[in-house]
Amino acid sequence: MLFPIYRPRRLRRNEIIRAIIRETELSVWDFVYPMFVVPGKKVKQEISSMPGIFRQSIDNITEEIKETRELGINAILLFGIPEKKDELGSGSYDENGIIQMALRKIKEEIKEVLLITDVCMCEYTSHGHCGIIENGEVQNDKTLQYLARIALSHAKAGADIIAPSDMMDGRVSAIREALDANGFENIAIMSYSAKYSSAFYGPFREAAESTPQFGNRRGYQMDPANVREALREIALDIEEGADIVMVKPALSYLDVIKAAREEFNHPLAAYNVSGEYSMVKAAGRLGWIDEAQVMMEILTSIKRAGADIIITYFAKEAAKILNSLRR
Ligand code: PBG
Repeated sequence: MLFPIYRPRRLRRNEIIRAIIRETELSVWDFVYPMFVVPGKKVKQEISSMPGIFRQSIDNITEEIKETRELGINAILLFGIPEKKDELGSGSYDENGIIQMALRKIKEEIKEVLLITDVCMCEYTSHGHCGIIENGEVQNDKTLQYLARIALSHAKAGADIIAPSDMMDGRVSAIREALDANGFENIAIMSYSAKYSSAFYGPFREAAESTPQFGNRRGYQMDPANVREALREIALDIEEGADIVMVKPALSYLDVIKAAREEFNHPLAAYNVSGEYSMVKAAGRLGWIDEAQVMMEILTSIKRAGADIIITYFAKEAAKILNSLRR
């Protein structure tokens, strides 16, 4: 069928026609909202490179979760910034660590919320690396024991989903084993399976104070040039027992999301990371782009590429727009 018989513009004439043929629909159910917990009371510090995103004490986090739930967002990804950092990142598995206390408090006050916890050591280690350092290198197998210990402490404190982001080999099975051995066989694992070594994490590292003090993360996070390797990583995590797999970052990796969607039937998450957020915010502030429209276009593209779950700092703003469209 060719012009003039076929005219694609017929189905673009007004919003109702466009809406009935639309292939991809964002929903507030797609979103996970990341939050940063710090020690103290009544703390609310805006992260300078991430306008609208705060580091907050547990009391304020709990209040903000109530707000996000009113917008229809029920899933939260929690990051903790401890009082003190040390070589072994001991704040990460402390029963009275920042995340463990936050989990207990939030669960006590809010019943219907899905709490996902990031399991990694970089926010807790003085050197800022994602594992235990010996001879100037992150030790894979030694780190696994710590990751399992962190995951278990999160589960005990009330986490619903454990999300390891460290990129050590074998961590999903180490965590699965520890959870199962302690009666947490119903706690799911969302693995950061294909996590790239990315400059897009810059603003997050300011927020979490987790910049490596020497070297970089290229010895454990993935090379941005590889997509077949991402599929091998995801396959491994699925074999080790991951319930949800993830591609991170999202925007420069839409092809990886697409490839993962085509290859696997597991639920797929994509992390629209800090730098992707900051770029849109910065350009929006300068008046160079329409921030809200760019945001919705980006989120739609991540879903169109094949993500079921979108982890995004835009969750609240996007939910407000989606909720207003429904009226
Ligand atoms: C911890 C972790 C990082 C992010 C999520 N978990 C930072 C890193 O690996 O350096 C990045 C999130 C973001 O940029 O929004 N390892």
